[in-house]
Amino acid sequence: MKTVWWQDGAVCLIDQTRLPLEECVVTCRSVAEVARAIRAMQVRGAPAIGATAAFGLALAAQGAAGDTSAILATVEESSAMLARTRPTAVNLFWALQRMGKRARALAGASTEDLRAALLAEAQAIAAEDEAACRAMGRFGAELVPPGAGILTHCNAGALACVSYGTALGVVRAAWERDKQVHVFVDETRPFLQGARLTAWELAKESIPMTLITDNMAGHFLHTGKVQCVVVGADRIAANGDVANKIGTYGVAVLARENNVPFYVAAPMSTLDFQIASGDQIPIEERDPAEVTAWRGVQTAPSGVRAAHPAFDVTPSRYVTAIITERGVARAPFAESLRAMAAAQ
Ligand code: MRU
Repeated sequence: MKTVWWQDGAVCLIDQTRLPLEECVVTCRSVAEVARAIRAMQVRGAPAIGATAAFGLALAAQGAAGDTSAILATVEESSAMLARTRPTAVNLFWALQRMGKRARALAGASTEDLRAALLAEAQAIAAEDEAACRAMGRFGAELVPPGAGILTHCNAGALACVSYGTALGVVRAAWERDKQVHVFVDETRPFLQGARLTAWELAKESIPMTLITDNMAGHFLHTGKVQCVVVGADRIAANGDVANKIGTYGVAVLARENNVPFYVAAPMSTLDFQIASGDQIPIEERDPAEVTAWRGVQTAPSGVRAAHPAFDVTPSRYVTAIITERGVARAPFAESLRAMAAAQ
């Protein structure tokens, strides 16, 4: 299954706002449509947003008129538009920078070569993401005991990437190695990425799971049903602090209280060495209406004040290990992550 792909000169996405009841595809034929799809969360999840934005810039180049410098100017404006969509997942900015660098290196090329090179770069970002997820799966599966209960929060699956998934990549790899795992899926209020998306992915592959509400996580950790927690990340600071879906921090603290390892699976493109600690990670504030209503059905008294930070930061002291495509990093993360980035 692919979440985002290029087809007939357009960017195609599985519409994640319609799952699990409807499986439909959004076809974006302009960069503005790509930006809208990211903002509306038709595509979401850090690596998926990055790959989509890369295809968005390839699309901008295909549609731009004029000579090479005119196309480069359009690519730059489009990059600025895409950068305004969502602030927390660093993969978006990583992909835009990589595409921008490739574009600038082709300032002397023909328009055809520039367009072809940008599409090839976006395809490479997508292919590398899938390979990274499979590598994380291999490293992460080693950490999962046979027969383990695995708790996950939000959706860090194929839908959050190009394919396979980060945290769910670890689950998939453990399942493929016949480890007989059982997944506890936090529903993940208020957008329900767990109930709608993670449960949908696991059900498709018949991986055993139990869907729980977020406030049940402590109970299942305390009663010995969970042997490890595996989550994804939207941005990891240089010291190993992890921004991920709102509610992750609480799960990490509960895991520590119950001596359950807390693992974060994320590709190298999620590491942000420009940011020293999680305190500096920008946290997206979404519409509080997503808290007071669900799909247009009001669930709170009229006019009630609500808050909706979409992410929180888990301090690195709660993180047992960070699984990347290059291996498993452990504390002290400032050193282990730097060494991982320098390797290769
Ligand atoms: O708001 P979302 O659904 O884009 O948030 C997604 C998450 O927080 C995921 O856990 C994270 O991006 C990791 S995805 C591999």
